[in-house]
Amino acid sequence: MPATSASAPAKIILFGEHAVVYGRPAIAVPISSVMAKVFIRPVLNAPSGYIHILSPGIELDTDLSALSDDHPLALVIHHVFSSLGVTRPPAMKIRITSTIPIASGLGSGAAVSVALARALSAFLGHPLTKEQVSAIAFEADKIYHHTPSGIDNTVITYQQPVYFIKNQPVQTFKAYEPFTIVIADTGIPCPTMETVRDVRHGWQANPGRYDKLFDSIGCIVEKAHKLIQTGHNEDLGPLMDENHQLLCALGVSSQELDRLIEIARAAGALGAKLSGGGRGGNMIALTGRLNAPTIAKALQEAGAVHTITTTIR
Ligand code: MEV
Repeated sequence: MPATSASAPAKIILFGEHAVVYGRPAIAVPISSVMAKVFIRPVLNAPSGYIHILSPGIELDTDLSALSDDHPLALVIHHVFSSLGVTRPPAMKIRITSTIPIASGLGSGAAVSVALARALSAFLGHPLTKEQVSAIAFEADKIYHHTPSGIDNTVITYQQPVYFIKNQPVQTFKAYEPFTIVIADTGIPCPTMETVRDVRHGWQANPGRYDKLFDSIGCIVEKAHKLIQTGHNEDLGPLMDENHQLLCALGVSSQELDRLIEIARAAGALGAKLSGGGRGGNMIALTGRLNAPTIAKALQEAGAVHTITTTIR
């Protein structure tokens, strides 16, 4: 069995986070400048079932047998084996690396799951389909986030912009004209499990108010989807601002996110919003045709620990 490797990109949500958990649409895009990579090689002279995992980024250096079944990496590996009917896996060493910042709303956990499911199934000689890979990464995301919508595993597996509605067939699409965003990391971990839980508590306590907020976010997503597909990219800016206001009303922004969003707007962004779970992690800013470097510099000077400039096609 030859050594095998696979990779998967990060993701960013352009519009619709949180409301997507409640059946409203959302738009997410892959970010390929940062990636998770998994490399698997056979171990000769070791018994079947010996599986060693090395993941320096999370200081993990262990045998699979030492991980509990509900560890996300163990879960992915066991799901791949059961999907392929493998009961006596060959001895192997799995090495996981990633340049995706952890807990920043960029889908680092889902990217590792996708890369691992791809690499392992290819190593075993039966690459899984996208549907299978995405479904396995979704199961692992339940450990990270309890009630994920499925948008992260979907956009990362399909590696194309997606218009996503929970439990509906995947809809990928292309931008009519490319546009550029700057992604800036507050450096504060994004507690997605906590923000998703808090939104749920808010919704349970006041379903009328929250359903209205989710509906308003859903309308923004539909408008944005049309604008992106017809090349009216500049009009996405005000929609980002509106979406951010609604996320503030859901209680998932923070002073640091709001501050970076203001800095981006003052530096010439056409619109800006938090992206992902919120309270920390990343914000995104829509740039004009030429001012991405100015906006990125302003965000870095304001304390963003990491910026990524990316063009969406
Ligand atoms: C997290 O990337 C996006 C949320 O909408 C949660 C989810 O969709 O699972 C906050």
